[in-house]
Order: sequence, then C-alpha cells, then structure tokens
Amino acid sequence: MNFRLKERFGKKFDEEIRFFKGWKSNMRAVGSIVPTSGVTARRMASVADPHSSLPVLELGPGTGVITKAILERGIKPERLVSIEFSTDFFNHLSSRFPAVNFINGDAFDLDKTLGTLRDETFDCVISAVPLLNFPMYKRVALIEDLLSRMAPGRPVVQISYGPLSPVIAMPDRYQISHFDFVVRNIPPAQLWVYRKPH
Ligand SMILES: C[S@@+](CC[C@H](N)C(=O)[O-])C[C@H]1O[C@@H](n2cnc3c(N)ncnc32)[C@H](O)[C@@H]1O
Repeated sequence: MNFRLKERFGKKFDEEIRFFKGWKSNMRAVGSIVPTSGVTARRMASVADPHSSLPVLELGPGTGVITKAILERGIKPERLVSIEFSTDFFNHLSSRFPAVNFINGDAFDLDKTLGTLRDETFDCVISAVPLLNFPMYKRVALIEDLLSRMAPGRPVVQISYGPLSPVIAMPDRYQISHFDFVVRNIPPAQLWVYRKPH
C-alpha cells in the first residue's frame, strides 16, 4: 500500500474510532453509529452557495466529515460557523480545522450559543444533529429558529434515518422537500430540506 493510501485509511480509521468513542459515551446525543459517508457529506454541502458572502451554519459536525465537504465546496473556513455539543469532538475539530469558527454549545439554544453572531443572517444551514432523539416540539422550534436567521427560500438541510421527515409539516410556517436518499451511507440516509416560503 502506498503512503498516501495508508494515510487515508489511517485517517478514516481514526475518525471511526473517535466517533465510536463519542457514540459510546453519549449515544443519545451522537445518534448514528458510524460517521457520515463522503457521498452524503458532499450532497449536503452542495446546498451552500460558494459565491455568497453570508456565513454557513453547520450543526453537529462530529468528526468533521461534513465540515471537510463544506470547505471543499469552496466555502472559506472563516465563513463557516459550526456548533458541536461534545467537547471532545469540539477539541478535535478545532485542531483539525483551525480557521473554522467552531462553537462548543447547544444547537437548540442558538441565541446563547451563537453569542455575538446571534444577529447574523446565514446563507444556509447544514445539520447532522440527531433530531429523532429529541421531542417533536424541540425539532419544530429548532427549524423555525434556524429559518428566522436566513433569507426566505434558502435551505436548512437535515440528515435523518427514518422514512419520514423528522419534523412534522407546518405548511403555513415552512416548506419541506425530500432532497435525497443516499444508499452509500451506514445506515442509508434521508436528506430533507426546510425553507421559509418567499
Ligand atoms: C450523527 S452525529 C454527526 C456525525 C458527523 N456527520 C460525522 O460524520 O462525524 C451527530 C452530532 O451532533 C452532535 N450533537 C448532538 N446534539 C447536539 C446539540 N444539541 N447541539 C450541537 N451538536 C449536537 C453530536 O455530538 C454529534 O457530533
């Protein structure tokens, strides 16, 4: 095996170990059992507009697979704000992507967690927070809070693993669309998009 291949496998293995440790120590907060696949991460990152000057908000970056895809999409690290609840993941992410604005806090308490960034308008939100582990009223409140921080029509993309949208329909308040079903993910992932109507 050549050096670069070994390095790639090493990194992937390291991510999986880190994820498994995080998962074992806090199963409810981490959710899925394996890191998001690169295919899923790239699909989620595709909603970000590389030509916008607005910041991108990421929720639940975990080991950083989606963070990496967002940066590879052409989003400058200074334009990325990423909220991670676990301090272990947060420390790892901060050393892996030093120019990204990581915040160690709760995505369900955005005013407090965003601090001085609380009045920003975001280009889009890319979320891997395990919504199904939280009660429905909290999921709805999170989506509405996120949409209030974005321009009408811009997307919140959410990964989930059930057949239905993890957030119930509220057609007068937000629109839901099925964005993709990614088989190359363990487990296969559903991607949902939420938008505030124009
Ligand atoms: C399914 S994992 C994301 C996996 C990630 N895409 C990866 O490939 O490593 C969910 C992540 O959301 C984080 N999380 C859970 N609850 C959170 C909250 N309330 N606020 C911010 N992050 C949260 C977990 O710590 C975990 O890192």
